[in-house]
Amino acid sequence: MKKIALYPGTFDPVTNGHIDIIERCSKVFDQVIVAILLNPDKNPLFTVSERVSMLKAVARNRFENVTVDTFDGLLVEYAVKKKATVIVRGIRAISDYEYELQMALMNRRLEPRIETVFMLPAEAFSYLSSKLIREIFVLGGSVKGLVPEIVELRLRAKNKGPMAARHQG
Ligand code: PNS
Repeated sequence: MKKIALYPGTFDPVTNGHIDIIERCSKVFDQVIVAILLNPDKNPLFTVSERVSMLKAVARNRFENVTVDTFDGLLVEYAVKKKATVIVRGIRAISDYEYELQMALMNRRLEPRIETVFMLPAEAFSYLSSKLIREIFVLGGSVKGLVPEIVELRLRAKNKGPMAARHQG
């Protein structure tokens, strides 16, 4: 039977650390679904459809067994619906562990058939987060090498667009 893994997150925006984890997943599992939470956060940098399109653009060029989708409601319910038996989460530092442990154990309580698997990104990405990328962008710094090229381009486009003042202000 095919092993389907779910890699859920907010991905606002996707970083090279996320891509590193997706690549590792794609080598270990038959199919990987990158699942973007339809976000309760009312002020994201990128809309969900922008995030989907950036992730799809990256996945299309690099991975044959990776698809991109969105979900709302309980993650484990979505996993069952997609016939995924594994939830993958990236852990960078020990500081991630407490929250991830809590979530993994709660998900296991809600749905014992699904295992959470933690993966480590390359050390070079261990300090990288979407939150820092958003902060650097708002403050006008360079994110080159930290995010896929398409994200860099979309960030640059935002700077020129009518929303620029809002994001810089
Ligand atoms: O990238 P993030 O923000 O760390 O991802 C968090 C995410 C989306 C994996 C988590 O918030 C989630 O699974 N939300 C769906 C709702 C849910 O199932 N909550 C119970 C988790 S124990």
